[in-house]
Amino acid sequence: MSLTRAFNIADLRKQARARLPDAIFDYLDGGAEDEITLHENCRVFGDYIFRPRHGVHVPSPDLSVTIMGQKMAMPMLAAPIGYSKLIHPQGELGAARAAGRKDIGYILSTISGYSLETIAAAASAPLFLQVYLLGGRAAGEATLRRAAAAGCKGLFLTIDTPVAGMRERDFRNGMKELMGRDPLAKLKYLPDFIAHPRWLTNYLLNSKMKTLPNVILADGKPFALTDVAKALETSVVTWSDLKWIRELWKGPIAIKGVLTGDDARRARDEGAHAVVVSNHGGRQLDQVATGLGALPEVAAAVGGEMEVLMDGGVRRGADIIKALALGAKAVLLGRGYAYGMAAAGEAGIDRALEIFQADLVRTMKLLGCKSVGELNASYIQKRG
Ligand SMILES: Cc1cc2nc3c(=O)[nH]c(=O)nc-3n(C[C@H](O)[C@H](O)[C@H](O)COP(=O)(O)O)c2cc1C
Repeated sequence: MSLTRAFNIADLRKQARARLPDAIFDYLDGGAEDEITLHENCRVFGDYIFRPRHGVHVPSPDLSVTIMGQKMAMPMLAAPIGYSKLIHPQGELGAARAAGRKDIGYILSTISGYSLETIAAAASAPLFLQVYLLGGRAAGEATLRRAAAAGCKGLFLTIDTPVAGMRERDFRNGMKELMGRDPLAKLKYLPDFIAHPRWLTNYLLNSKMKTLPNVILADGKPFALTDVAKALETSVVTWSDLKWIRELWKGPIAIKGVLTGDDARRARDEGAHAVVVSNHGGRQLDQVATGLGALPEVAAAVGGEMEVLMDGGVRRGADIIKALALGAKAVLLGRGYAYGMAAAGEAGIDRALEIFQADLVRTMKLLGCKSVGELNASYIQKRG
């Protein structure tokens, strides 16, 4: 399969499926519990149809936006994807470089196999850091100082992960065992790994993630990966953390994982610059609102006062335009670029971003809208 045969993100997902063992594909593709929210995230875009202005010539629509003080060529950022290096050895490095080529923001996950200094050196577009407090406050403070020194433009504080969601596919297909320390437990899944020799070779030579280089503990050692689920529970990110983080971090902060107007107002009152309306790609609490579903409430609550971003289920440029019409300033792409990374590393991410860009340009022309800043609710309506 070649990338030129990938015409949309669903094609890249198919290529990812073929390249990855079940454990890794399901880690990327799966959601929590019955995966109701996971599926709703994509389906909900179909609840809206467009209201185009025809007979309008739009030779070159303006897609640019400014998010958290940073100008970007398109209204999208690459979302934090933990364990990206396990999905493909280029992982976060490939994502930062590909985002740079398209001049969009990249948000590095705390759960990264590359140091933030390495990523910052490779990033040619705005780099942001997503924050979990896995090693507690002291480790968090050290990471934030490093992020500032490396030139990160802002923080995304993820508040919807007080415990890892129940992603049953991870238990079924060997992801837990792969990350664990017991080599015998991995044996059961060996045939599946061997059946994916390209991924396995990369994993053995380049992709093994044993520690997190951006979480350095009091003993000076990086955080050991096997403890992530437990550490999430003992290091819950709360509103009180925002207070000390704001004192330490002088740049803009976004709160990721907001689904109600109340939480958005709280984020605003605590001094955040932006919120991301998000259910974490359907991977945390199942049966919550979709990002698109919660967006109008959040935009009505704080839209005039802070930047509202959204994510979840964005697989086409048309989805991005619907989100903007409902009040988002930009979206985060999660699996939308990560399927490309899984299929072919950096080149696969390039392909995914190309698809989104072409979709955006074409859809804006078809709508007769010359700038994403002009998108509003008059460009869409609820399906009858
Ligand atoms: C494999 C995977 C890993 C993720 N890791 C993180 C993470 O480390 N931190 C975080 O804040 N969000 C994480 N997310 C959530 C994404 O940042 C984003 O909110 C979500 O993927 C958006 O939904 P979508 O995948 O349908 O686009 C992860 C998502 C996936 C699919």
